[in-house]
Amino acid sequence: MDLPNDGQLPAESETAELLRELLAGGEASAFENMTRFMELMVRYNCAIREVRTKFEVLNEELSFRTSRNPIESISSRIKKPASIVKKLRRLGKELTVDEIEKSLNDVAGIRVICAFIDDIYRVADMLARQDDITVIRVKDYIRKPKLNGYRSYHMIVEVPVFFSQSKQMVRVEIQLRTVAMDFWASLEHRMKYKKAGADRPDIANELKSCAEVIAATDARMQGIRERIERMENGSDAGQ
Ligand code: GTP
Ligand code: MG
Repeated sequence: MDLPNDGQLPAESETAELLRELLAGGEASAFENMTRFMELMVRYNCAIREVRTKFEVLNEELSFRTSRNPIESISSRIKKPASIVKKLRRLGKELTVDEIEKSLNDVAGIRVICAFIDDIYRVADMLARQDDITVIRVKDYIRKPKLNGYRSYHMIVEVPVFFSQSKQMVRVEIQLRTVAMDFWASLEHRMKYKKAGADRPDIANELKSCAEVIAATDARMQGIRERIERMENGSDAGQ
């Protein structure tokens, strides 16, 4: 059901629609639904903090042990109501609080930018082995890049969050990439979503070719680091 376009931005009218559907059914249930929606968002926010802390701890420990930071930066976001509405619609689901929790894996999202490709696998594996983390799904777009050239390592995990009265299992989407992969993905995303003609084959081929150059550079940078490490350990004669 579309709201009449009375000059509102689409994002605002979609937010209004989510709120309207959540608030349907009289005052008492409107209040209850709104409270449940806000509680759910608090849960996702807290889950982000839990997972972010886990990566920060790993980074601190590894940088102490190896004298270099495997993680360059961590960012996070909660999916906006307008995007929640869009995705539930795309999946053909009802706009309810239960459906958000049940059907969406990416309301809480964390992006971990690593220095080198092997750091991604190292920290992803260390997280996956923690006994309070359940890995729901992994998509390895590094070993198997998308056709357009996109590379990243994606995980959906479930983490427990302890509140005053209960323990809640909360799903978080984690994207791990190198600085170079992030450079490509950020620019590709900006160009693809903001400009007409971005789907033209010549543009797509050019973007894919850039992704391949970047991937080759990532591999060479890791090779250089490994060589320097071997020299430090005295096992490289300098060839
Ligand atoms: P979504 O419904 O878009 O979330 O996809 P999905 O549930 O199939 O998950 P997938 O792991 O394939 O992608 C999740 C997220 O990765 C997307 O929301 C983007 O943030 C990012 N992503 C995936 N593919 C691309 C891509 O081709 N380019 C860029 N820039 N980002 C991508
Ligand atoms: Mg998504």
